Amino acid sequence: MEEWVLLKRFSTIHPSVNGLLYGGDYNPDQWQAYPEVLQKDVELMKLANVNAVSVNIFGWAAIEAEEGTYTFGWLDDVMDNMASIGGHILLSTPSGARPAWLSKKYPEVLRVNEKRQKQLHGQRHNHCFTSPIYREKTAALNKMLAERYKDHPALIMWHVSNEYSGECHCDLCQEAFREWLKNKYDHQLEKLNHAWWATFWSHTFTDWDQIESPSSIGENQIHGLTLDWKRFVTDQTVDFYRNEIKPLKEITPNIAVSTNFMGENPHMGPFEGLDYSRFADYVDVITWDAYPAWHNEWEKTWQLAANTAFVHDLYRSLKGGQPFLLLESTPSLVNWQITNKLKRPGMNLLSSLQAVAHGSDSVMYFQWRKSRGSSEKLHGAVVDHYGNENTRVFKEAAELGSRLASLKEVAGASVDAKVAIIYDWENRWALYEAQGFAKKHLDYVKTCEEHYQAFWKKGIPVDVIPAHYDLSSYEIVIAPMLYMLKRETAQAILTFVESGGTYVSTYMSGIVDENDLCYIESDPNPLFQMLGLRVNEIDSLYKADQQSVNWEGHSYQVSDFCEIVEPMSATVLAEYELDFYKNSPALTVNTYKKGQAYHISARTETGFLDAFYEKLASDHQLSNPIGIELPEGVSLQSRTDGETTYLFLMNFTEETQVVNIPETYELKEIVGEGPISNEVILPTYDVRTLKLVKGSVEVI
Ligand code: GLA
Ligand code: GLA
Repeated sequence: MEEWVLLKRFSTIHPSVNGLLYGGDYNPDQWQAYPEVLQKDVELMKLANVNAVSVNIFGWAAIEAEEGTYTFGWLDDVMDNMASIGGHILLSTPSGARPAWLSKKYPEVLRVNEKRQKQLHGQRHNHCFTSPIYREKTAALNKMLAERYKDHPALIMWHVSNEYSGECHCDLCQEAFREWLKNKYDHQLEKLNHAWWATFWSHTFTDWDQIESPSSIGENQIHGLTLDWKRFVTDQTVDFYRNEIKPLKEITPNIAVSTNFMGENPHMGPFEGLDYSRFADYVDVITWDAYPAWHNEWEKTWQLAANTAFVHDLYRSLKGGQPFLLLESTPSLVNWQITNKLKRPGMNLLSSLQAVAHGSDSVMYFQWRKSRGSSEKLHGAVVDHYGNENTRVFKEAAELGSRLASLKEVAGASVDAKVAIIYDWENRWALYEAQGFAKKHLDYVKTCEEHYQAFWKKGIPVDVIPAHYDLSSYEIVIAPMLYMLKRETAQAILTFVESGGTYVSTYMSGIVDENDLCYIESDPNPLFQMLGLRVNEIDSLYKADQQSVNWEGHSYQVSDFCEIVEPMSATVLAEYELDFYKNSPALTVNTYKKGQAYHISARTETGFLDAFYEKLASDHQLSNPIGIELPEGVSLQSRTDGETTYLFLMNFTEETQVVNIPETYELKEIVGEGPISNEVILPTYDVRTLKLVKGSVEVI
């Protein structure tokens, strides 16, 4: 394989930004009647080492209280105040929530839900993405914002809307969906009927008008339709976003635009509802809002840390390794989880630096100051209702601010990964739509994360990529449960293995094509030949069922899903131990041209994945940059520009941990963190940041 050396630094978000951004969502629009509070905010921001805030996220009514009457004074003041302390503004377009007058006068902006019920005005993040009026109104306001602030020294980025999500089933959206389908299927209903296998249950469409979005009171069994609808929802959301950024790009071509992505709780994973890879070309930087449920009762802290790391790595990989921005996180607690637990002392610093370790060039919070009323008045913030700096949360936030300032040289460095794990939104949608596998056992995200964890535990950098991303820079590509194998993806995988790559496939892969149609004899799974096998059946296991596989003398438990495969040219490496498929293959490898293709046929305990990937990593001589063993729960992540590598040693356990750095590395201190020895002591939730410069390690 061609050696890929990362020898560059990405530039920061704006020429005026030197280092990492630190701050958060700031809602001065709520405090216009309290000038002393606004004044105090500026003082406190300086104390906390804050250098950036996102403003105007929900400011529409404060700007345009009546249609066509604009008040920008409060926003001018905020921009000027930030500029006066050398701070930066991420200026939001306020489409995430709209004034009541707008919904009243133009009801088409309100959504219709999947049961075809028209929604009333209220809450937020719930406008119709198709409505021409909403598009016109938001673009017009964005244009005014761009014209007004285009030369303002505080402006560094556009924070477009807020956490786009959801869907609308109004007549305008139905029409737009049909147009989208006509475009996709070349205006030929026969093509659509074939792709959707519509002869099934007499679902054949004879007119475009017969097609409706999926509904629990209507059509929800045509998998191809549901999948196309989800694709349409992403495309329509991206289209709405592009309409929002049009005036921004025209008036402020040098100001970056982004919109904040989400994660998912309680099991931390990527947000399911939108295929963010489709946004990647239209945002200048990926930004996301991370709210892991730290200190929960269902998993160990380090397991949640590894799951969060998976999402960080996915979002970094969406734009080719370019650093992302952590745009929201809580400094203490949220107000919407099952149990709203306080971050224990140290956890805010640890979870924030974890984001930086994985490629974030910022740490931003929701929210700077707690609101006084309404739904988020009890959500954590840097500044409490108490309103000053003498709180635990504020003090920890200020400490983190100075720590980030000392880490400013990390900005722009990326992650050099030789291993990629495929996580794919369309695959997830199709897999969960399929009827036949018990949904609650599917665990697609969890499965991807379990494969990922094997590398996380060793500190080996990993990219997490959607299936259509370029594979050529990796040595190992792992695609857990790639149920939907598009022909184009299959071709890219074949090319990757042909030229020497190592590919790992698992159970439940390559069952359907891009249309969600099963591969058949005359049109078989395009990877079977490469894998040197064919899959004959998939067994599902009850909890009480016993099954195991034997690999290299060890027996590993398996659960949920077991495939029965028939090897052709593949070599069998492990076999099932029980039941009627005892001694049939559970792990195989096939040499294909210059590469190797593995297939894992069953869902194994994580111990198997750890052992299997340890062997694979060692075959490929992959390790963390200083080649050390890590205690359970200690993470080692690295960012590099090819010359200098920054190492983050993070203790995600409730005990003190010791990490030994080989004596071949000499430790030098840069910023005072106490005496330095090669035996690094990490108290609970502590982070040490080290800098690796040719043979010596400096502590920063
Ligand atoms: C019923 C229906 C069939 C088919 C089977 C599936 O028997 O009549 O059309 O859906 O269930 O088990
Ligand atoms: C999301 C939103 C914020 C706020 C936080 C609360 O991230 O973008 O406006 O509601 O959740 O955790």
